[in-house]
Amino acid sequence: MINKQLQDAINAQINRELYSEYLYLAMSAWFAGQNLDGFANWMSVQSQEERFHAMKFYHYVIERGGAVILEQIDKPPGYFKNPLHAFEMTLEHEQFITDNINKLMDLAIKKNDHAAKSFLQWYVDEQVEEEANADKILKQLAMVKDNPHGVLMLDRELATRVFTPPVTAV
Ligand code: FEO
Repeated sequence: MINKQLQDAINAQINRELYSEYLYLAMSAWFAGQNLDGFANWMSVQSQEERFHAMKFYHYVIERGGAVILEQIDKPPGYFKNPLHAFEMTLEHEQFITDNINKLMDLAIKKNDHAAKSFLQWYVDEQVEEEANADKILKQLAMVKDNPHGVLMLDRELATRVFTPPVTAV
């Protein structure tokens, strides 16, 4: 049986992951509106990954005999100054998520919940990748600045990203 405090903290994290799904979907829509279909694709895949993160928590709470409580999802921004701005927000958001995953792990350690610690380790590792992915594209965008040729080259590269859920899925 899951500890009540941990259950509540995971429910709050489910909401954050669902907001992440929504945020990246909003970014995907904005990029599509700019005719940057590769960036839109990258954000769409990112959005699907966030759904996966949320559902992995969702199934874990149920599996441990807890209750999933879904809260209202905040409205994401719908406008971004430019691609660089969107990726600055992405990296900042991922750092915020990492901070919250770390707090969840701190709580699991405090409650001496070994199953939760093992489960949360997946997210600790995942966040390293999440931040690195956003940081890489942010740095590439900073390099090309407003050079349309550079932005279009990057757009072509980001068009190749596909969503591949881990086999250990939910
Ligand atoms: Fe679910 Fe992007 O962290």
